[in-house]
Amino acid sequence: MEIEEIDVDENIGEVGRVLREHERRRGILIHVLQEIEENNGYLPEGVLRRLSRKLDLPLAEIYSVASFYKMFHFTPRGRKVVKVCLGTACYVRGSKKVLTALEDEFGIKSGETTEDLALTLETVGCVGCCGLAPVTTVNDEVIGETGTKKLEALVRSIKKG
Ligand code: FES
Repeated sequence: MEIEEIDVDENIGEVGRVLREHERRRGILIHVLQEIEENNGYLPEGVLRRLSRKLDLPLAEIYSVASFYKMFHFTPRGRKVVKVCLGTACYVRGSKKVLTALEDEFGIKSGETTEDLALTLETVGCVGCCGLAPVTTVNDEVIGETGTKKLEALVRSIKKG
């Protein structure tokens, strides 16, 4: 029998219909999560609870789906999300120093957000522009050759908001 010939309804009847409905809700789920993330900068628990009731999907399933994707976050993010590239090219050209300087300046570690939500600091593998190493991104805008002057300007802009 060819795959195309399989009639899910015929073979599994009601289960097939339920599965399709479930998959449809899971499909909607991803789009709704993207919108919630866009509107809030993260996925607030209260909103996910409401969504769980609305879609009739267990909250645990929603968390399970959301935590699979790196694009979703469960805590508030900073107004500036700074990612320091620790890929090989950037690392050998001093990106670890950039990271340490930012950590020291703002009193947070990579993966954390300042209390005033001015900054979320993260690291990234390679952003694909190794020729500009060491590279830092600010809200996805690339800053190449992050030396002392650019770092100072970045710190000022974060503090300014
Ligand atoms: S290693 Fe940093 S951009 Fe490639």
